[in-house]
Amino acid sequence: MLSLLLLGLLAQSARSSPAPRAAPSPVSVSLGGVTYINQGLVAFGLIPSNATESTGDTLGGLGSAVAVKPGTWRMQADGTYAGTLVVQPDRGFNVLTTIDYQARRHELSFVLSPYTGSAALSFADAQKTLKLTYLNTTLLSERNGTKTSGLDPQAIRAADPGFGAADPTADPQMPIASLNEPHLSVDAEGIVINADGTYWLSDEYGPYIYRFSAAGQLLQTIQPPEAILPLSKKGKLNFTSEDDPDTGRGANQGFEGLTLDPLTNTLYAILQSGTIQDGAAQFTRLLAYDVSQLDVAVPLIGEWVVPLPVSSGGKVRSTSELHFVSPGVFLTLARDGNGHGGSGTDVKYKHVDLFSIANATSIAHTDFDSAATPVAPKAKLAKGVTAAAYASFLDIADPAGLARFGLHTGDPDDRTLINAKWEGLALAPAGVPGAPDDYFLFVASDNDFISTQGVSLGVPFDAGEDVDSQFLVFRVTLPGAAAGVKAALGL
Ligand SMILES: *[C@@H]1O[C@H](CO)[C@@H](O)[C@H](O)[C@H]1NC(C)=O
Ligand SMILES: *[C@@H]1O[C@H](CO)[C@@H](O)[C@H](O)[C@H]1NC(C)=O
Ligand SMILES: *[C@@H]1O[C@H](CO)[C@@H](O)[C@H](O)[C@H]1NC(C)=O
Ligand SMILES: *[C@@H]1O[C@H](CO)[C@@H](O)[C@H](O)[C@H]1NC(C)=O
Ligand SMILES: *[C@@H]1O[C@H](CO)[C@@H](O)[C@H](O)[C@H]1NC(C)=O
Repeated sequence: MLSLLLLGLLAQSARSSPAPRAAPSPVSVSLGGVTYINQGLVAFGLIPSNATESTGDTLGGLGSAVAVKPGTWRMQADGTYAGTLVVQPDRGFNVLTTIDYQARRHELSFVLSPYTGSAALSFADAQKTLKLTYLNTTLLSERNGTKTSGLDPQAIRAADPGFGAADPTADPQMPIASLNEPHLSVDAEGIVINADGTYWLSDEYGPYIYRFSAAGQLLQTIQPPEAILPLSKKGKLNFTSEDDPDTGRGANQGFEGLTLDPLTNTLYAILQSGTIQDGAAQFTRLLAYDVSQLDVAVPLIGEWVVPLPVSSGGKVRSTSELHFVSPGVFLTLARDGNGHGGSGTDVKYKHVDLFSIANATSIAHTDFDSAATPVAPKAKLAKGVTAAAYASFLDIADPAGLARFGLHTGDPDDRTLINAKWEGLALAPAGVPGAPDDYFLFVASDNDFISTQGVSLGVPFDAGEDVDSQFLVFRVTLPGAAAGVKAALGL
């Protein structure tokens, strides 16, 4: 479908536009009878690989999750846009081994000056289209102030008495670094900021969803159904990220994506790829929780199978993020691992795609929530289960778009090569008269803290190369998104 549309658009532009054609040229896709349009790349910015934050550590891993802070987005008189981005690093510089990195979030202020010209900007000038400035850091702790850790969870802390009852202050069995080091292990990947300043964070280890206070103290924990928990054959939890469990989420394949439908107060989390028992990594799961009441254990109200894209060679493009668009419709970030800081320069698939659960089957509270009953045994979806409808949408690594901002795919492997790991999505309204459905889509990358002048837990390190934290901004047309975006940004 997309390729037909693409061919149509290309044929059209070949017929009607004289060279040099105006850039960027829009690409559209239809899902559930609605047409969504990618208007192209309009801004690029970065935080240098050697930047440091208030604790003295390298300011890295920024794009694991991003959100525009409610109440900060504004259009300025000179036609630029400004606001604050909240960014969520994962578990620190862990290229060699996991480290005792306290989970944290940072605030960055930004000025966005969208560039729609066709002439190619230099790499230096391109960075003026999205200026990012570090503001501050909030460190995360448990309820009693004990700091969290990024260390691989090799042990388990018993559930609080009362877990499972309607008590949000009771915790399930928790991943901890070790019995001697009973710190909660967090590998943060998703963020949702609530209107009251508290926020939800999704993680890879549990995979759990935590709510923290604005000051960074743990308030609440959501444990997913048994089918998703990392269990041994004997049904014992083992949260390590060093080996796959026998059932549940794969190692390092936790809740990569988290988003809120602010109109119904539904919190959605997506697993990076299918569970171990669902053999095929292609069929992942989306979960929905009703978070309209926060002083109770929040109920699971929906669960759907989402089919991830697969390469012609059978490689599954796992999902790294999720963003609510309109009831039943989501953006997702599916990609390969190639690019700067990744495994080679041959970038094949880095997309922000769309999916809809409008006609999909909810499997919440069915046998598929148990570890014993896979929903996709031997890579085939179980009878009677309809998966979400998936549509390929926006190519982050489109070479023509990147070239306008001094960036590229392929060799050489330098700081103008597009980064490998894109993991954060945020939306804000373009506010352009006559284009009420147009938004800016922020896409952020995780640089894995790779720097030749790094600092980790106060100790200098040299990771052998420099990978900046790159941010891209696209203009997109998303009919139906207005109410959700406005509510999320407090507009
Ligand atoms: C859901 O089904 C209806 C009725 O068949 C159809 O009109 C609609 O396009 C479908 N939506 C999606 C997202 O597939
Ligand atoms: C980062 O590196 C650049 C180039 O080497 C240098 O000019 C800058 O001062 C460094 N910044 C920090 C915070 O060390
Ligand atoms: C971070 O900076 C913003 C903007 O100045 C401010 O509103 C916020 O309170 C600061 N947060 C912390 C933790 O200092
Ligand atoms: C903080 O709470 C955790 C979890 O209940 C507990 O294991 C730890 O011992 C507490 N630490 C302190 C200093 O009270
Ligand atoms: C978890 O599994 C690993 C091996 O995969 C093992 O070394 C470790 O002891 C297990 N942890 C627990 C708490 O059972």
